[in-house]
Amino acid sequence: MEILISNWSDVESVPKTYIFPPESRPGKLEFPIFNDTPLIDLAHNHPDDTIKQVVRACQEFGFFQVLNHGVCENLMDDTMNMYKEFFKLPGEYKTKFYSNDIHKSCRIYSSTLSYDTEELHYWRDNLTHRCHPLEEYIQFWPDKPTKYREVVGEYSIATRKLLYKILDMICKGLGLNSGYFEGELSKTHMLSVNHHIPCPDPSLTLGMPVHSDPNLITLLHQCDVPGLQILQDGQWIGVHPDPHAIIVIPGLQLKVISNDRFITPVHRVVTHPKEARTTIGVFLSPSPESLIKPATALVHNEPVFRAFTYLEFFKAFTAGAKCDAQLALNHFRNKP
Ligand code: OGA
Ligand code: NI
Repeated sequence: MEILISNWSDVESVPKTYIFPPESRPGKLEFPIFNDTPLIDLAHNHPDDTIKQVVRACQEFGFFQVLNHGVCENLMDDTMNMYKEFFKLPGEYKTKFYSNDIHKSCRIYSSTLSYDTEELHYWRDNLTHRCHPLEEYIQFWPDKPTKYREVVGEYSIATRKLLYKILDMICKGLGLNSGYFEGELSKTHMLSVNHHIPCPDPSLTLGMPVHSDPNLITLLHQCDVPGLQILQDGQWIGVHPDPHAIIVIPGLQLKVISNDRFITPVHRVVTHPKEARTTIGVFLSPSPESLIKPATALVHNEPVFRAFTYLEFFKAFTAGAKCDAQLALNHFRNKP
């Protein structure tokens, strides 16, 4: 069987290697939808209020959606359509990018990076590439569809601007020195696109593992097909897909820097019986050597976490059999 699910045709039933045991499969098709996702208008004319809303959302929910975010709707649509087209390209073209080596600056994989050793696979293909500095990496990006580099280049610049705008608001809201997150803490800028073909029985499988984002901060741009779910008080709740809103998720490194004030949500993706689903994630992560620690301005007594390098964290994260980033973080937690 082809590894990339986007190369499959006529999927009539879920192959055995994609069927999760009853305790970890979704089990049903309908999930409650989050009605109270914080929706923050970035064009609001009282910047101090907006900053407060951002910090409150990071502290109380661990994610929020932004509107009037400055990434133009046409560019969002063009980029989403580009990815829909990309995953329809002939198998031979996509397979040229296939790799499970995280050091490759542009790669496609399916399920997880452990495809070769895992017992069960997740129902997704993923295209990941580095974005900054653009002139260094763009040559490794796909050159199909024809306008890929032009459109995605523009999109990665616009979303990068938004990421730094939000980081700047967080900086102000937490009372950190201006530019706190610039440089090493946000050195790696990646675009990561998930694609799930329609699944004959979404109750049996998952589109992405249960996880918490291990990086500094994530933007998520969904198409109009639902699938993202967040764990809240032990219940899975769906996030309404709005193709022009952008979801912001504080990653675990931001949680550490905030000295545990921020929440990094546990989330997963379920599949859809009729429609293909594509989401674009934009990630900022620290460089491997970068030192992560609670910001001094936020520590009053004992810091909640000890200082560590991102590389140390990443080693702890990938060493555990379950690749659980929240668990990995416990290695760096100071005892109460
Ligand atoms: C991620 C992620 C969710 C989605 O890429 O980390 O959680 O809806 N994606 O694709
Ligand atoms: Ni995620």
